[in-house]
Amino acid sequence: MNRDMKTVFSGVQPSGNLTIGNYLGAIRNFATFPEDYKRFYCVVDLHAITVRQVPAELRRRTYETLALYIACGLDPEKNTLFVQSQVPAHAELAWMLNCYTMFGELSRMTQFKDKSAKHADNINAGLFTYPTLMAADILLYQTDIVPVGIDQKQHLELTRDIAARFNSVYGDTFTMPEPYIPETGMKIMSLAEPTQKMSKSDPNPNAVIRILDTPEEIMKKCKRAVTDSETEVRYGEGKDGINNLMSIYRCFTGKTFEEIEREFAGRGYGDFKTAVGEAIVEGLRPVQSEFAKLMADKAYLEEVMKKGAADAAYFARRTMSKVRRKLGFIG
Ligand code: TRP
Repeated sequence: MNRDMKTVFSGVQPSGNLTIGNYLGAIRNFATFPEDYKRFYCVVDLHAITVRQVPAELRRRTYETLALYIACGLDPEKNTLFVQSQVPAHAELAWMLNCYTMFGELSRMTQFKDKSAKHADNINAGLFTYPTLMAADILLYQTDIVPVGIDQKQHLELTRDIAARFNSVYGDTFTMPEPYIPETGMKIMSLAEPTQKMSKSDPNPNAVIRILDTPEEIMKKCKRAVTDSETEVRYGEGKDGINNLMSIYRCFTGKTFEEIEREFAGRGYGDFKTAVGEAIVEGLRPVQSEFAKLMADKAYLEEVMKKGAADAAYFARRTMSKVRRKLGFIG
């Protein structure tokens, strides 16, 4: 690899049916990095087991997440697409980094606090050290840029703190990663409670539009989306529901907020919701058809995983031998 080449790394958990929030805020942007960047996109199944999973479903979603990466435009010939548990160095480095991560730091992570409130019966050590595994994912590949949603910014900052601490003790070992948080589609909100992030694990089916929803489901959910008591399609304070629908519409059509306001001037919310639904259906159509083709060819997906894991392992090994040597391990 060319030393001047920038490295991009990101990961998506196979822990739920992905939403348009995952698509617009993350996966779609992965495809925008230029070809002269070394790009690793990982399905982070080790992270997924921090909450209880049904094994058959985890396996299916792992295939699905990989298929979605490809369906969203990531060419496996040009990107390293792989499954985290197939490259054991992730777990190995995570253990080592755990010894350079403080209890207090992990205790302050808001995602840990949220998830432990949500899964009060299963506050396991993996949930607590989740950010260290994420740091390992990133640092293993000497990553420069990490495209993530805004909710992962705190984990990125911790990753940087861990890297700086390690580097200060052992000398330059890890590249300092930068988060890349794209402005558009950064935060798609729930359709039912537009002050909350659209979450793939939301139990209310009307709150979430999934990448694989049928056109009928998408139209129905858009029509039911919570708005406000006004009638004007306008971006503004106190209009969280409309603001969110406008953001979604903007992401799918490329129109600006002003253009959208003009387009719907004097028309009601009903018309606007229909247009939003149609834009989503049209935008997802090619992704869905490509996805269906890929899921019908498991052998191909397995081949992609195998090739991706071998490529990732090659780069991971270089970092690991450096780390092992510095820590005082033999061989
Ligand atoms: N924690 C991330 C999320 O829930 C997923 C993730 C795991 C990740 N490892 C990563 C993202 C490394 C970026 C880089 O969205």
